[in-house]
Amino acid sequence: MQATVNVNGVVTDGDQAVISVFDHGFLYGDGVYETLRTYNRQPFLLDRHLARLRASADRLTLEVPPTDADLETRIRNTMRGVNPDGDVTLRIVVTRGVGELTYDPAACPRPTIVIIALPHRRIPDAILRDGVSVVVARVLRNHPRSVDPSIKSNNLLNNVLAMQEAIRQGAYEAILLNHRGELTECSQSNLFAVRDGVVLTPPRDAGLLDGVTRNFLFEVGAELGVPVREAVLRHADLAQVDELFITSTTREMIPVVRVDTRPVGSGRPGPIASRLLSRFRDRADLLTRTLAPG
Ligand code: PDD
Repeated sequence: MQATVNVNGVVTDGDQAVISVFDHGFLYGDGVYETLRTYNRQPFLLDRHLARLRASADRLTLEVPPTDADLETRIRNTMRGVNPDGDVTLRIVVTRGVGELTYDPAACPRPTIVIIALPHRRIPDAILRDGVSVVVARVLRNHPRSVDPSIKSNNLLNNVLAMQEAIRQGAYEAILLNHRGELTECSQSNLFAVRDGVVLTPPRDAGLLDGVTRNFLFEVGAELGVPVREAVLRHADLAQVDELFITSTTREMIPVVRVDTRPVGSGRPGPIASRLLSRFRDRADLLTRTLAPG
């Protein structure tokens, strides 16, 4: 894997980067992360990702001592030599750090801060042209009073188990329901449906990650005059929608044309998702083109 990694400020090739086996991120999944990407080699919506990183860390009473400016400098130092002619995917990981084998946070005086920079891999055009299939997972999304899905934590087994179901069935993603039988999101992306020209996405209190791309899409929709709003959606609603698509930082927007064995709408990617994606990319390009080169 062609990666450059920053561990607590020290940048090395990916295969030289090490953390301790006593790190509580490794032992307990006790930590948080963000995935972001560049457009025009500029980290996209960095302020929103850093705000969410800090909000997630707060929920675990985990301190993130560096300032945002310091984190940005580390990101730019780490990505410098990676894929110089293209874009970069970045993962920031903050864990509790190294300490005794106890859940007591006082055992870990210093968090571990890792930044991984990888060449960004574009979603193949064929996927955008033809769409993907998804399954509805048997595993439920974590209850918000368990490991709250709004915390972007390193505790990802809920997501791993859902995605394993998708992989076993040859699907691209897995939709997770909550304990009330409502749709929440997918294992690594948020979910949107289009019905009668209105774009709908499950509300935050369904129990989901408040995606940066999801929020950006509300703004893109407003710009285009396409209504995008939150709505409680249930499993049965999937049979009634005209379009379905997923969003995430690394995937932007991908049309979903099949859920389990049933086609979505016409069975082909729909026009509203395609308009939103095109405006989304224009805005991403505009917002990053005006930033100083890194
Ligand atoms: N995944 N829901 C879940 C469970 C996710 O893991 C993600 C992001 C999203 C979309 O969030 P955003 O638009 O902020 O990327 C929704 C990232 C890409 C990841 O796991 O690497």
